[in-house]
Amino acid sequence: MTATLIDGKAIAASWRARIGAAVADLAPQGLRPGLAVVLVGDDPASQIYVRSKMRQTVEAGMRSFDHALSASTTQDELLALVAKLNADPDVDGILVQLPLPPQIDAQAVIEAIDPAKDVDGFHPVNAGRLLTGTPGFVPCTPLGCLLLLHSIRPDLTGLDAVVIGRSAIVGKPMAQLLIRENCTVTVAHSRTRNLPEVCRRADVLVAAVGRPELVRGDWLKPGATVIDVGINRVPNPAAGEGRTRIVGDVAFAEAVDVAGAITPVPGGVGPMTIACLLRNTLEAACRRRGLPPERWSATTA
Ligand code: GUN
Repeated sequence: MTATLIDGKAIAASWRARIGAAVADLAPQGLRPGLAVVLVGDDPASQIYVRSKMRQTVEAGMRSFDHALSASTTQDELLALVAKLNADPDVDGILVQLPLPPQIDAQAVIEAIDPAKDVDGFHPVNAGRLLTGTPGFVPCTPLGCLLLLHSIRPDLTGLDAVVIGRSAIVGKPMAQLLIRENCTVTVAHSRTRNLPEVCRRADVLVAAVGRPELVRGDWLKPGATVIDVGINRVPNPAAGEGRTRIVGDVAFAEAVDVAGAITPVPGGVGPMTIACLLRNTLEAACRRRGLPPERWSATTA
């Protein structure tokens, strides 16, 4: 059997188009959602990521406010900028790119962001809202995973879901989303006993541990839907000395013969994250103005 490929690149493009159309519909009311992106320091990977966010924000018809601060920025300076963005009526969403330099306490910065503008969904108020099942912002990567799952299975009710990884950014919110979808959820992690056996129970498997090709083909229930969040750089001697390639947390070549559907890496979860950031920004803009949720706020196409 060869699994259906879940084409994150195409699905993300279709969500961006949908969000762009919703943004265009708001223009006659004089509303243009705005996203502030704050980058501290000059980490090349973060710079590429932030540039991509800003380009896609503008392409969706939203305003992008770019704040690039030096690597020596103090915590007080960053908190002062966050306070200014919280108070700025043109700013609907605030994203402070992580990781931050060592002199800055990232948690203190996250907690300083107005929860109504926290489009990353990292503020404890939003984490709590997800936990209590009340409306709030859901972190972009797990939300993107849910949209991918729904592209294959619009109704997840009753399925056994296994999430590998318990991070605050992916694993824990993913588990909460799957509970909300009426799945029976197991959260596995580095200390889980007999992980292969746990994984074999999964109708839906989400791998978010950051260990290259940890999940093997024989860990999967035949027909399972597999979402691979991993982005791991590994040596690629076949391409030449010192060359690398990107692999997921799932051994794709093995898994594709067992799974019913699977995301590739790259081109699976990755492109969904920014699409969900745009979606959260649009949602923030509407909520802050008391506008009702629209069609784009669904999680199925
Ligand atoms: N660094 C890598 N991914 C992310 C993300 O989704 N949000 C923020 N704020 N920083 C990141």
